[in-house]
Amino acid sequence: MSNTELAKGIYWVGAIDWDVRDFHGYSTYKGTTYNAFLIVDKKVTLFDTVKRSHLNELLDNIRAIIDPAKIDYLVVNHVEMDHSGSLPAMMDIIKPEKLFCSPMGQKAIVEHFHREDWPYEVVKSGSEVSLGKRTIQFLETRMLHWPDSMFSYIKEDGILFSSDAFGQHYATSERFDDEVDISEVMQESSKYYANILYLFSPLIRKLLASVKEMNLDIKMIAPDHGVIWRTHQNKILEAYDKWSRNESDKKVLVIYDSMWHSTEKMAHAIGAGLKETGISTRMINLKVHHRSDVMTQVLGAKAVVVGCSTLNNGLLPRMAGFLMYMRGLKPTNKFGAAFGSFGWSGEAVGLINAALEEMKIDVIENGLRLKYVPDDRKLEECKEMGRRIGKRVIESFNS
Ligand code: FEO
Repeated sequence: MSNTELAKGIYWVGAIDWDVRDFHGYSTYKGTTYNAFLIVDKKVTLFDTVKRSHLNELLDNIRAIIDPAKIDYLVVNHVEMDHSGSLPAMMDIIKPEKLFCSPMGQKAIVEHFHREDWPYEVVKSGSEVSLGKRTIQFLETRMLHWPDSMFSYIKEDGILFSSDAFGQHYATSERFDDEVDISEVMQESSKYYANILYLFSPLIRKLLASVKEMNLDIKMIAPDHGVIWRTHQNKILEAYDKWSRNESDKKVLVIYDSMWHSTEKMAHAIGAGLKETGISTRMINLKVHHRSDVMTQVLGAKAVVVGCSTLNNGLLPRMAGFLMYMRGLKPTNKFGAAFGSFGWSGEAVGLINAALEEMKIDVIENGLRLKYVPDDRKLEECKEMGRRIGKRVIESFNS
């Protein structure tokens, strides 16, 4: 069996994007893959396509197995352009007998490509299609993470094509989880969850429950990005269970941006107070940490202590951007607090508090505002704030 064969007659035919470093605002330091899959059966079936820029790679991979014109069915599990960008070209080449998609998928395809004449075959949760020896069972996964998203489960082989769920932005020549460093895969999986799926955690819980109810015998989970889970499926399912419950570790993040180092001094004094309580603490200067890496840390933290200088009656732009990004991802079950240095108006702390409250983060301090440069007495106030927060977090785990 080749290293791209998931089971006899079932192949990975996607593309590897070694160079992509930004995915709509998410830093993809390790590139990504656009996974597409081919089943050679009585009805030859292609699951998803790839980003438009990688069309030739998809075609080369298919041609190594079969003439693309021999494909009978095309399944669109997800319409976002990283998977559908090559769809119009592939429709022209394949001219498939049927194009399977969810009801919302059909709408989205028409709204993207303006082709009402394609041979749509709309499927819903529970719909089954026989390919010959194999059967596809469809499962709609609305808003995971687009309205059109769905999974395709190959009953006879126990393979779940899971679209974006369980994916990682991780470019490798290997295709399976047991061929690479699993800790690296889990790290990229947590980053993916924190930056793509976090806000849909309640839906992930429902999805995990319905997959359990369906009693599927899942032997392999094949997402649309990164490696395929064939050995560590339980590891990623357990991680999704934990992340979607918003379970946190005993960890506090001090996230800050500073104009002339005063807010930075406050941050480090708060961090020193936190460390005195024994709580695990991470100092995160937004000048050097990308927002998507910060969100990965937010996923597992119990508290975020956020500091910013006041600039023009507002926030420094990096902090404003970060708070907006975090608000969209809807982290829950966390404590929060604000601090910052100011010169004359000092709105930053109030703005941070308002942003945290809007995110339904439990703001446990009024906020600490200090004028210009803090002296030792003021830094002791910061340290004390850190101690109070540390104790509160530890108590929350003991109660
Ligand atoms: Fe990988 Fe939602 O696209």
